[in-house]
Amino acid sequence: MEIKKITVLGAGQMGNGIAQVCAQAGYEVKMRDIDQKFIDNGMATIKKNLERGLAKGKITQEEVDGVLGRITGVLDLGESVKDADLVIEAIPEIVKLKLDTWREVDGAAPEGAILASNTSSISITQMAAVTKRPNLFVGMHFFNPVPVMGLVEIIKGQGTEDSTVDVIREVSGKLGKKTVLVNEAPGFAVNRLLVPAINEAIFAIQENVATVEDMDLAIKLGLNWPMGPLTLADFVGLDTLLYISDYFVDEFKDSKYRAPALLRKMVRAGWVGRKSGKGFYDYSSDEPKPVRFH
Ligand SMILES: NC(=O)c1ccc[n+]([C@@H]2O[C@H](COP(=O)([O-])OP(=O)(O)OC[C@H]3O[C@@H](n4cnc5c(N)ncnc54)[C@H](O)[C@@H]3O)[C@@H](O)[C@H]2O)c1
Repeated sequence: MEIKKITVLGAGQMGNGIAQVCAQAGYEVKMRDIDQKFIDNGMATIKKNLERGLAKGKITQEEVDGVLGRITGVLDLGESVKDADLVIEAIPEIVKLKLDTWREVDGAAPEGAILASNTSSISITQMAAVTKRPNLFVGMHFFNPVPVMGLVEIIKGQGTEDSTVDVIREVSGKLGKKTVLVNEAPGFAVNRLLVPAINEAIFAIQENVATVEDMDLAIKLGLNWPMGPLTLADFVGLDTLLYISDYFVDEFKDSKYRAPALLRKMVRAGWVGRKSGKGFYDYSSDEPKPVRFH
């Protein structure tokens, strides 16, 4: 099947990036969120990204206008998916919210439309089961920031058909992404390693093993990571990390995946990273400042 129209659910960190790369690849995109202010913020981020590309000479004004012209913000869920060929969901990592949304999407989207979730951890099979089309349901896991990162993990649920995987592989290629195929398991391939690694860095901060900046520097230079784990935690969003950790404990029944108490406390305080202005770093000035915990 040929994909022409893509609906992205959620205009947040991931949703606006996904909408941008889809529009850049020439797809007609609808970007849906629950409040106009989230749509406006998402559109503003896309515009800022494109203008950065324009300033660097990577993209022309005509292309910028074309990309922006292909993205429509929509508030009503039914309206947003009614003629979609592919729905990519990037709403918060909360099981009930995802299941309720998929039930509604399944009733409103065209019969043959493919449904793809950008979930970081939640079972594709569980989400597919609330729809009448588990064969057309698949995981399409992008990485943050979407316009920069080159990977999409394609996750096959219990009922996902190979032809659905093929379509997602083709679309991902058009978006300029390489793909890996992962059979469903909590955290898929990348987060299964990443989340325990970041949590371990947070345990180390909790235990006063090193300061935030030294822990980041140690891992960045010692392991040749492009950025330290605490900087990365702030990028991912501490709320998302906490959801994933709790989900891993539930799924694996293994306490080795437990979230550090410090992470839970920070999320309760609203310190969820870059998107809230504070996490392991304070982003209120131009230069992020590491937070002191001891
Ligand atoms: N942040 C990351 O690095 C990352 C990476 C890969 C995957 N993910 C996954 O992507 C998803 C979204 O994460 P995010 O970081 O973009 O979160 P976010 O909080 O930045 O954005 C979520 C957006 O969804 C909106 N929303 C809530 N309910 C909705 C609904 N019913 N319909 C449409 N929009 C709705 C919210 O208003 C918000 O704007 C999660 O499943 C997360 O696990 C995140």
